[in-house]
Amino acid sequence: ETVRLADYTPFSHSVEHVAMTFRLAPEATRVTTRIRFGAGGTALRLDGEGLRLLALRIDGAAVSAEPDATGLSLTVPDRAFVLETEVEIAPAGNTALEGLYMSGGMYCTQCEAEGFRKITFYPDRPDVMAPFHVRIESEMPVLLSNGNPSAQGPGWAEWDDPWPKPSYLFALVAGDLVAHSDRFTTMEGRDVALNIWVRPGDEDRCAYAMDSLKRSMRWDEEVYGRAYDLSVFNIVAVDDFNMGAMENKGLNIFNSKYVLALPQTATDEDFARIEAIIAHEYFHNWTGNRITCRDWFQLCLKEGLTVFRDQQFSADMRSAAVKRIEDVLTLRARQFREDAGPLAHPVRPDAYEEINNFYTATVYEKGAEVIGMLKRLVGDEAYGRALDLYFERHDGQACTIEDWLRVFEDATGRDLTQFARWYTEAGTPRVTAEESWEGGTFTLTLSQDGAKVIPVAVGLLDPSGQEVRPTEVLELTEARQSFRFDGLAARPVASVLRGFSAPVLLEKPSSAEERAFLLAHDTDPFNRWDAGRSLAKEVLSQMVVRGDAPSALWLDALAEVVLDGGLDPAFRALTLRLPAEDDIARTLHEAGVTPDPDRIHAARRAMGDALAERLRDGLGDLVAPVPGPWSPDAGQAGARALRMQALGLLSRLDGGAEAQRVFDAADNMTEEVGALSALLDAGAGVAALRAFGDRWQHDRIVMDKWFTLQILHAGDAPAVTAALVEHPLFDWKNPNRFRAVFGALSANHAGFHRIDGSGYRLLADWLIRLDAANPQTAARMSQAFDSMSRYDADRQAMMAAELERILNAPGLSRDLSEMAGRMAGRR
Ligand code: ARG
Ligand code: ZN
Repeated sequence: ETVRLADYTPFSHSVEHVAMTFRLAPEATRVTTRIRFGAGGTALRLDGEGLRLLALRIDGAAVSAEPDATGLSLTVPDRAFVLETEVEIAPAGNTALEGLYMSGGMYCTQCEAEGFRKITFYPDRPDVMAPFHVRIESEMPVLLSNGNPSAQGPGWAEWDDPWPKPSYLFALVAGDLVAHSDRFTTMEGRDVALNIWVRPGDEDRCAYAMDSLKRSMRWDEEVYGRAYDLSVFNIVAVDDFNMGAMENKGLNIFNSKYVLALPQTATDEDFARIEAIIAHEYFHNWTGNRITCRDWFQLCLKEGLTVFRDQQFSADMRSAAVKRIEDVLTLRARQFREDAGPLAHPVRPDAYEEINNFYTATVYEKGAEVIGMLKRLVGDEAYGRALDLYFERHDGQACTIEDWLRVFEDATGRDLTQFARWYTEAGTPRVTAEESWEGGTFTLTLSQDGAKVIPVAVGLLDPSGQEVRPTEVLELTEARQSFRFDGLAARPVASVLRGFSAPVLLEKPSSAEERAFLLAHDTDPFNRWDAGRSLAKEVLSQMVVRGDAPSALWLDALAEVVLDGGLDPAFRALTLRLPAEDDIARTLHEAGVTPDPDRIHAARRAMGDALAERLRDGLGDLVAPVPGPWSPDAGQAGARALRMQALGLLSRLDGGAEAQRVFDAADNMTEEVGALSALLDAGAGVAALRAFGDRWQHDRIVMDKWFTLQILHAGDAPAVTAALVEHPLFDWKNPNRFRAVFGALSANHAGFHRIDGSGYRLLADWLIRLDAANPQTAARMSQAFDSMSRYDADRQAMMAAELERILNAPGLSRDLSEMAGRMAGRR
């Protein structure tokens, strides 16, 4: 059944207060809920799924009613009243990991988006906000819920959350946990107890997450003027979690891999992700919790904004240029792909069957880009005023994108009607740039295939590489517009879409020489990198299509950057990264060429070989150890990234000899994994892989890498995957392990798309199996099939057949059926 934005109606009643009591038991947990409703007529409809109703009272008098499959309809007094329900649920059997479930012997919850209805009968929608009081009774030593602790005794604890919140922010945790604790004093002088709760033995792995949390709290005060608002902030790490983390009020619950880290167990990328996710969930306290969403169509209101804020934070903590390049790499890989296929949807969708399917790259990452554009268009100072107004006007409310845009209109006097299209139209806009030069005037003509407001940041360089016009944001609002730059002494080279100022596909006819020039001279670091990237993509495409050899121009231009010791090593490492096979496949398809995965794979390997050959003399220096004691900071991480890129290239020349030495000497996971990857690529990884497995067999988070790496670097990925699912440590009900294996299978482009169809078949088999236990993760992983239409008829037919097989699976979930249906073209 389709839910539509146009059908929104407010809830019948207000909820004044909620008091809950949990008597926890794995097979039979009792949940008593007392809800004080305001007056709202005589018909009340509550959501509820899989609940055994034991008792029902209105103002203390027993009432009888029979729930249906999705909830409970009641006749209630036409005045304020108290509804009391008692239900029984079985967390131990909850493999969907939504609602109250168990992970490694502990109780935990995940309620966003609609999990609370699996805990009790309630108006489970974000626009119903109420203060909660929670009592937990259990033998577990640590009992946590939202808000401030209010009382506790042996076998029980009570929590009080004074801030009205929607049910999706409810959380409860009970387990044998230990805390890594600290304190923080807010700018308002509030003393806050900070705790990261983990399983005994993991407490020495929390220091980086705690440090990230404190830096996030300070940053939100300094940059957005937002202070924390409770006396305690708890984070819990759980091993079985469908997503990255969840911003429950005062009680964030995290996938343990985004909390636990030591230099020996986590890569630099893991550290950066922990910092970003800790910040993201913390920032939700204001953008999501204090101001929430009216309905789930408005999801980007909190997610786009909070991703934008965590990106700003990481940029401030690290290198802004490097962060921007990394964010655009992810955006293009995931969101552009999504926008180009059958799963394309607007940043604010207007219809869905299962809301869990809309926690997407479009809502999150494109949602963040839209905010970045807004900031670019109104300017930093006006952005600050608009955000102040947003917090002042909407604190405590459940809002819409219209509310958000109105704040900007009121703060700036600007009409955002046209801008709003970014929220309502799917697809990646194409912007074409043409240039002309006459009598000292340079004219840039921009055109678009739609009718959006597109901020295009442009700077001009003179032929010597000096910047003659600093960055200026041009506003493309019409189908075609020309922008003049007068008084130039020589024809300039234009650097267009600096900083990736809008999430568009830029088409700018330019020679390879011009791009090599920008790679060497652009003063905008993003465009400097992107010039190299577009050159690399063009070279690789020509290698695939025409069988060309990699051009000397590209090799020389790249060598120039990579061997320039004056440049940030992180930037050099990013420049060395070759375009992904999937990215080339999408680019070829968009250019009207049917991508051949085997040719793409072979060409990319040949490209790397040629690069290794070209850099031969410099690689020895580049693989030298990174000096100084280990630190997770951006400087050292960048140096290690460059070292590992160089090691991968060197392995093509020395058969992995140096990589084996680095592997044997590694004292941190970045280098251990980097060296192992290089060895696997060189076909020399058997011994190292075994050593890695022996060393880390008791560490779930590290062993995920062991599974992933061998599939990612396999020649025949489906065969390797089929063998690994027989491994005793392959626990398919654990989402991290399932993703480690099947995420790697679909990320191995040539392997997944093998012409014998074995990749497609294996993934479909396991999606069907997982769907019966955990629909949310199964649906998410099915997205691997969304690139179907790019490929040749044989592959398309095989993928379509697998989607059909999924659609015909008995008992298929709404989650997976919506996804497979959309990809099969049935929706
Ligand atoms: N709000 C969480 C976050 O972005 C994600 C929750 C996703 N939940 C889901 N059911 N898809 O931090
Ligand atoms: Zn979020």
